[in-house]
Amino acid sequence: MKLLLATLALWASSALTQTPPPNPPIRNIYTFPPNHFIENIAVRSNSRLLLTSMSVPHLYSINPLIPNPAADIIHSFANPNNATGISGIAEIAPDVFAVIVADWDLFATRAIPGTLAVWTVNFNKAPSQRVKFITQVANTTIFNGIARHPTNPTLLLAADSALGAVWKVNLLTGAHSVAFSSPLLTPTATAHLGINGLKAQGQYLYFTNSAQGYLGRVKIGWNGEQVGAIEVLSSASDAGADVVYDDIALDFGHGGSGKVWIASHPDYAVGITLPEGSQWVVKNVTKLLNPTACAFGRGSAKERTTLYVTNGGEFLPDFTLVNEGVVALDL
Ligand SMILES: *[C@@H]1O[C@H](CO)[C@@H](O)[C@H](O)[C@H]1NC(C)=O
Ligand SMILES: *[C@@H]1O[C@H](CO)[C@@H](O)[C@H](O)[C@H]1NC(C)=O
Ligand SMILES: *[C@@H]1O[C@H](CO)[C@@H](O)[C@H](O)[C@H]1NC(C)=O
Repeated sequence: MKLLLATLALWASSALTQTPPPNPPIRNIYTFPPNHFIENIAVRSNSRLLLTSMSVPHLYSINPLIPNPAADIIHSFANPNNATGISGIAEIAPDVFAVIVADWDLFATRAIPGTLAVWTVNFNKAPSQRVKFITQVANTTIFNGIARHPTNPTLLLAADSALGAVWKVNLLTGAHSVAFSSPLLTPTATAHLGINGLKAQGQYLYFTNSAQGYLGRVKIGWNGEQVGAIEVLSSASDAGADVVYDDIALDFGHGGSGKVWIASHPDYAVGITLPEGSQWVVKNVTKLLNPTACAFGRGSAKERTTLYVTNGGEFLPDFTLVNEGVVALDL
């Protein structure tokens, strides 16, 4: 997440060598009541959207295929650990999702030390048996984006936006440690979130660094260790002077080429074509409201070309947060 009040956007076209495609239509799916900062999204195989909020400790489920859907609470993590919100979410096995739960200092975007924990939610089980505690991680103040290791099913990888590191968590034993860290993953003196979005594909971990303003990737080994140099794939400043990259979705389903979509503050969704790194900048000041994360739909062909983008929301002058929710881009 990134707390930004909307400013006028400057359109920087330097990185665009061709006329960009027209903006896709954007549909509103669900708007939450005030003060539900919506942070992350995962999509189930049955097309339901799972949403996390860093302001409330509930995991939400929304059916995007029906008019005026409800946001059902799948589980509340408030008890017994006094959690105040959920950050990352990732599918770690079919219909099993890991979530990061903590007592958050929302404005600092840091967990109160000692409160961050990894849990799993298994939809293959009866509701009373779905939720499982994996481990507490005392020595971190934020796990932001999380991803299952692409080939080692026991490992969850987590972006530590404060330390500038990728952690690994063994999902069977709860054992955890820093897998690797780098000056390229850290925050900066003026922006407090370094490595942020995290997705794994093939041998690579794709990520954004919000503070340093780039999309990158790095090859990783079986134990989550860094193998080779961090590669920079695109720069936020090439998409626009005020663009701040947040969480990402990969679209590598069509042969060797691929796209990475990046939810970007204050009112953007940016599609990066790889390997050349050209950027399709979608800007919409009424429908994209501090986008925090994005994910493709699952199910029908139409769902698979729908990009769901979570809106963190807009702060009123008194710091009430409004218009948080999720929208759909029909790509
Ligand atoms: C924002 O998206 C809506 C829905 O697609 C569209 O009607 C509107 O024109 C867009 N606004 C801008 C400024 O592009
Ligand atoms: C939750 O908060 C209560 C009341 O402040 C406190 O007594 C309890 O120890 C806390 N539990 C945890 C797990 O931190
Ligand atoms: C983790 O713990 C060690 C030893 O207590 C400490 O030196 C280090 O700064 C801690 N790291 C973080 C991210 O808190």
